[in-house]
Amino acid sequence: MTKIRSTAMSRTVPWKLLAAALALIALAGCGSQSKSSASLEGSKEAIALYNARCISCHASDLSGKVGPDSDLRTVGSRMTKEAIAKQITNGGDIMPAFASKLSADDIDKLADWLSKQQ
Ligand code: HEC
Repeated sequence: MTKIRSTAMSRTVPWKLLAAALALIALAGCGSQSKSSASLEGSKEAIALYNARCISCHASDLSGKVGPDSDLRTVGSRMTKEAIAKQITNGGDIMPAFASKLSADDIDKLADWLSKQQ
């Protein structure tokens, strides 16, 4: 994924605000997070972490709920494991940082699992 910030910035601001609002709604409104994550395959530990921390924004099938940038279905073909770990650690434009919420080991498990989603 390439972000062309300089040219697209003014156009993307309303979208970012909308996405932020949707993210808040997703966080506030999503009580039951254990629904249909049965389609996810791979490390059970990583999937448990994903279900606990990420599903509210990235959806039970990884398709993403807060815009195209939150679609993780083929994230492993766009980002290295290291880049994914960095995104989880530091967060993004909208995504919160997990540096203080997850251990380095948990972040590594998530990054390893996501890097296999291609
Ligand atoms: C509050 C909503 C929210 C939560 C919670 C969240 N994310 Fe995100 N995530 C986003 C958004 C929105 C993006 C798109 C980039 C941005 O705006 O930050 C994103 C982007 C990403 C990306 C980069 C995708 C790309 O193609 O650039 C990865 C990897 C990722 N998230 C993993 C995770 C993991 C793993 C967790 C759980 C530990 C998580 N996210 C929790 C909202 C969230």
